Amino acid sequence: MKYKLLSYNPEQTIALGTLFGRHLRADDVVALIGIFGGGKTYFTKGIAQGLGVKNSNEIISPSFTLCHIHKGKKLTLYHLDVQRLKRPADFTDLGIIDFFPGGVAVIEWADKFLKTLAPLHIIKVLFKVKGRTKRQLEFSFEGKRFTGLVNKLKSIITTSDISHSGVGSNPPPSPWPGR
Ligand SMILES: Nc1ncnc2c1ncn2[C@@H]1O[C@H](COP(=O)(O)OP(=O)(O)OP(=O)(O)O)[C@@H](O)[C@H]1O
Ligand SMILES: [Mg+2]
Repeated sequence: MKYKLLSYNPEQTIALGTLFGRHLRADDVVALIGIFGGGKTYFTKGIAQGLGVKNSNEIISPSFTLCHIHKGKKLTLYHLDVQRLKRPADFTDLGIIDFFPGGVAVIEWADKFLKTLAPLHIIKVLFKVKGRTKRQLEFSFEGKRFTGLVNKLKSIITTSDISHSGVGSNPPPSPWPGR
């Protein structure tokens, strides 16, 4: 299943991440894919907020440390940035697959390791830059695990100002309220 959305500013991307994060479950893996400045870390800030992480606004890419661990209200967030890793073995050596269960893993630059992640409950989010502050987020997943989550996003977003990709091409008239 695929679902596309447009975000018109960084605040919308965070708000979208918050909605998304609220519905994540234990053992979920979120694979964030897309170029530098695509909005992966902003979206992760939102996810952290949705999971009830304190100081979620201080979330930064773990570019050098590879993984930051944040305690949420119910679930722990494992925020990874694997951009610097080259081979699948570099990734498996991290042991993420062994230590994250029970929490939620959000992995920036996950595209190189999708095969390794395939046995897990994984949802991909592909970020594309469509303008100075316009980003397209494309959610995709196999199976049924994330159907409920994406349907919730759809139902909330249909009633808000944010545009479904392809439906609206103009910025919303007023800032999209974070819910
Ligand atoms: N709609 C938008 N959503 C998110 N970020 C936006 C948006 N419009 C502009 N920006 C800007 O784009 C940048 C996104 O940065 P962010 O750190 O989230 O990217 P990233 O994909 O994590 O990059 P990197 O691969 O370097 O970690 C920020 O500077 C932000 O201000
Ligand atoms: Mg980042």
